[in-house]
Amino acid sequence: MGAEAIRRIGVFTSGGDAPGMNACIRAVVRTALHHGLEVIGIRRGYAGMIEGDFVEMDAASVSNIIQLGGTILKSARSEAFKTPEGRARAAQQLQQAGIQALVAIGGDGTFRGASIFHEEYGFPIVGCPGTIDNDLFGTDETIGYDTAVNTALQAIDKIRDTADAHDRLFFIEVMGRDSGFIALACAIGGGAELVLVPEAFVDLDEIRESLYRVLAHKRRSSIVVVAEGDELGGAQKLAEKLRPIFPDYEMRVTVLGHIQRGGSPTARDRMLATRLGVAAVEALLDGHDNVMVGVINNEIHLTPLRNTWSKKKTIDYDLLRLVQLLS
Ligand code: F6P
Repeated sequence: MGAEAIRRIGVFTSGGDAPGMNACIRAVVRTALHHGLEVIGIRRGYAGMIEGDFVEMDAASVSNIIQLGGTILKSARSEAFKTPEGRARAAQQLQQAGIQALVAIGGDGTFRGASIFHEEYGFPIVGCPGTIDNDLFGTDETIGYDTAVNTALQAIDKIRDTADAHDRLFFIEVMGRDSGFIALACAIGGGAELVLVPEAFVDLDEIRESLYRVLAHKRRSSIVVVAEGDELGGAQKLAEKLRPIFPDYEMRVTVLGHIQRGGSPTARDRMLATRLGVAAVEALLDGHDNVMVGVINNEIHLTPLRNTWSKKKTIDYDLLRLVQLLS
């Protein structure tokens, strides 16, 4: 479909919610309205698309949401959309509602689904990267990542107080199913003694050596940041393995969990979400399709949707060295 033919677009959020998604929805809706388009909000991601859970959006419907965490359109992880029947139903619902193009705000699972949907139905789709994990190829940062890191850091600072008071070793697990972006940023920002990420396997012997080194410096309290996707199985399992090796050392485990997904987005995330929401609609109007908008070196970039999840975005390995050097 030519861009000039687009009169009505749909916008939805899908997968794990991320702070800043609302700011992105606001930018998409207001930009579309500015260009004379009609906007339909699709509730609960692909699940709502299949069920036809649609709501008309006007300028007022996105008032007072830029500062809110979560997503006013709600989100879901849809199993039905993974089936050809589910996608056929979704295409039918979109057609019936006169929706001619989509803005998808989500992470790798969302874009995986969007790529397949596009291949099957040729539906114009532009993606906005929204996930706290920051694991999408084609953008330096994803919407929600900065807020999640700051939320985790606030918690880590507090844990450091009690770790110090009791001379304890804390293993703090942060989110990141397959990636260590959050863990690495928290380790640097939180002054951790050690960080474990899925991208760089560290065996138990190396961990033991690092902790011996910390103890030799007479530092009794220590923080180890562990990404949930770490190969040793997360913070709890790691602590269990290390307890017998350091019987005189008191250890505690804190799993930060979904607290990292909530809360008001930081200024950085609001800015990113706004820029990307505007860029997504303008990309559609410029005739782009089947791409994700991202920011690389502070400039808007378009990346084929398939590349965003099939190509691996790498962590900055030098940051691992910095954690070690400063511990
Ligand atoms: O992808 C974002 C994320 O928060 C991951 O870091 C985490 O592993 C996952 O979602 C948790 O998903 P759910 O909320 O479905 O348990």
